[in-house]
Amino acid sequence: MNIARVAGENCRMSWTFPAIIILFVPLLNMASSRGELLKLNSALACRFVRGLTREQRTICHDAPDTASVAFEGLQLAVKECQHQFRWHRWNCTSLLTKSSNPHASALMKRGFRESSFLYALTAAGVVHSIARACAQGRLLSCGCDPVGYRASHDPRGRLRANKWEWSGCSHNLAYGIEFSKKFLDVRDQVDDLQSKINVHNNNAGRSILASHMEVRCKCHGLSGSCQVRTCWRATPDFRVVATTIKRQYRKALMVAQEELNNGVSILRGRPRGRRKSRPRPAPKTSLLFFEKSPSFCEADPKLESSGTSGRVCRTGRTSRTGSCDLLCCGRGHDLIRKSSIKPCNCTFHWCCRVDCQKCQDDKWVAVCK
Ligand SMILES: *[C@@H]1O[C@H](CO)[C@@H](O)[C@H](O)[C@H]1NC(C)=O
Ligand SMILES: *[C@@H]1O[C@H](CO)[C@@H](O)[C@H](O)[C@H]1NC(C)=O
Repeated sequence: MNIARVAGENCRMSWTFPAIIILFVPLLNMASSRGELLKLNSALACRFVRGLTREQRTICHDAPDTASVAFEGLQLAVKECQHQFRWHRWNCTSLLTKSSNPHASALMKRGFRESSFLYALTAAGVVHSIARACAQGRLLSCGCDPVGYRASHDPRGRLRANKWEWSGCSHNLAYGIEFSKKFLDVRDQVDDLQSKINVHNNNAGRSILASHMEVRCKCHGLSGSCQVRTCWRATPDFRVVATTIKRQYRKALMVAQEELNNGVSILRGRPRGRRKSRPRPAPKTSLLFFEKSPSFCEADPKLESSGTSGRVCRTGRTSRTGSCDLLCCGRGHDLIRKSSIKPCNCTFHWCCRVDCQKCQDDKWVAVCK
């Protein structure tokens, strides 16, 4: 059962590497057992993912099943990034087309505010996917979180009315964090400020996810009396985590330039617009950056940015995110007619048939010049 599930996941993962599948299917068929086949498949995938460091490749090779779940987490982060930035000039598209590995992108080699967001989001995405996969029995190296939270997060007070116990299968946050650190922080082993900032942002993402863990309970007892509850910790919907990280992105702290120059080892940040104030240690969940972002208005191959020309924008209030004013960078916009065919006027016939007409749906949309 577990093996079958893992197989499914590997297949899903492999679509990013169609060439590998075609090339190695005969080879895979020769593998003696299904388990070996999976290992081989994942290990091959490790060699073809772009932009992994040597250390990451070793980890990927040693724990290919866990690494493949980590890649799922990275993809989850990219998808969520696209949602969170859908009305921004930079909208995360470059991460999707460039490579299956967001860390290979130009933005993640820089120190922009956007980069800090990406570090936190990808680190959280890896924790999220692995913590869940452990609890779902998809990985051999981990299972449900063994109690763990009883001491620190016991919400007994709130649930005192009824007897309850931690006996459900908790998502394995601790294991997810451990692997996320091992697999991602290893990219930034150099003892320079940029590496420290990247690791700080990774930690911020992981802390934000950890602080949103949920307690879920199920009732037991005669006819729904809920005399006994079984409870477990679960990772939240990833959208919630991403939205919180996005909030941190807006108030991210710029690391002072003089500290960059001096190579000061303690990370400090200072809030924007308070340049005179003494730098103080950055809170754990704050994002840090050290480079001013470009406008992302025009195409810039160096940043894998395609500019905002042709982007759909929102007419109306000019200060709103995604407004044509902000998105089109003052170049103005065109109104174009977009038509699509949609089912309409559906009628239900007894029994059981639904007939629909096809209607043309015409809409005017604004796009940036
Ligand atoms: C993101 O931007 C690119 C080009 O700048 C555009 O092609 C794409 O449709 C945009 N995506 C969304 C979701 O708006
Ligand atoms: C739905 O059907 C009615 C009557 O058959 C018609 O008058 C109307 O135009 C149709 N609506 C659409 C959107 O086609």
